[in-house]
Amino acid sequence: MDEENKLSRKTVLKAALAAGVAAPVALIGGPALARTTVADGKAPELTPACDDGDDPPPPQTEGPYFKPNSPQRTSLVTPGTQGTRLTVSGYVFGLGCLPIARALLDFWQADVNGAYDNVGYTFRGHQFTNDQGAFTLSTIVPGLYPGRTRHIHVKVQAPGRPVLTTQLYFPNEPRNNTDSIFDPRLLMTVRDAGTAKEAAFDFVLNVPQTPTSTSRPTSTTPTTSTSTSNPPGGTTWAAGTGYSAGARVTYSGRGYVCLQGHTAQPGWEPPVTPALWRAE
Ligand SMILES: [Fe+2]
Repeated sequence: MDEENKLSRKTVLKAALAAGVAAPVALIGGPALARTTVADGKAPELTPACDDGDDPPPPQTEGPYFKPNSPQRTSLVTPGTQGTRLTVSGYVFGLGCLPIARALLDFWQADVNGAYDNVGYTFRGHQFTNDQGAFTLSTIVPGLYPGRTRHIHVKVQAPGRPVLTTQLYFPNEPRNNTDSIFDPRLLMTVRDAGTAKEAAFDFVLNVPQTPTSTSRPTSTTPTTSTSTSNPPGGTTWAAGTGYSAGARVTYSGRGYVCLQGHTAQPGWEPPVTPALWRAE
């Protein structure tokens, strides 16, 4: 069996379903979809799942350009930054398919010309996952430099656990075929969003988890608090609502189209879940 076919069976969605009652409903309806959605309808790029016996994302060399003490920030761009805007979003899971809150992600990458900033901290930044285990990075598509395919470096660390140093890759890059470091398990899903690009990748860390020891999400208990936290400007989106693909909502005055059926959860608002909602 070649590696591609082997990987094709490993989706987080499958993992969540295989986990049966141990998998929180919220995970089946939400983060799993982040791995299974692509805008053009092609088969998604895949990553190791958290409970199918395969290894977590493989470590990769940090290369020569890592610098410690990066600024804490989720955006690496300024209004004058050159390059195609790119948003990378996803979740950090443990081996039990449960999200890991407060996981550290330290990103660094080349600029549009393929150069690293080894003096300052341009295109370097760290952040922590939120309570839902989610992260979002605002950056640009990194430029190419000799000898490598297009990539983003990242260190990921669950609280109190070892650091995973690895790299994220872009599909359909010619150099993916010739870069000996490239690993298809580290491919992001990437789609166009106007003149920008939106990418998704979920990390599965080698962190033991006991699903039954974690309280079930509040999806079975309708909450009214979310309705009061919605922003002004016209919002029909509501946590707890089941949305079908093609459904339309507004959030803070902007229209969105649902890409895959799911039950909305707090923290999965349309602006921060590009795998679930496409802005109109
Ligand atoms: Fe690099």
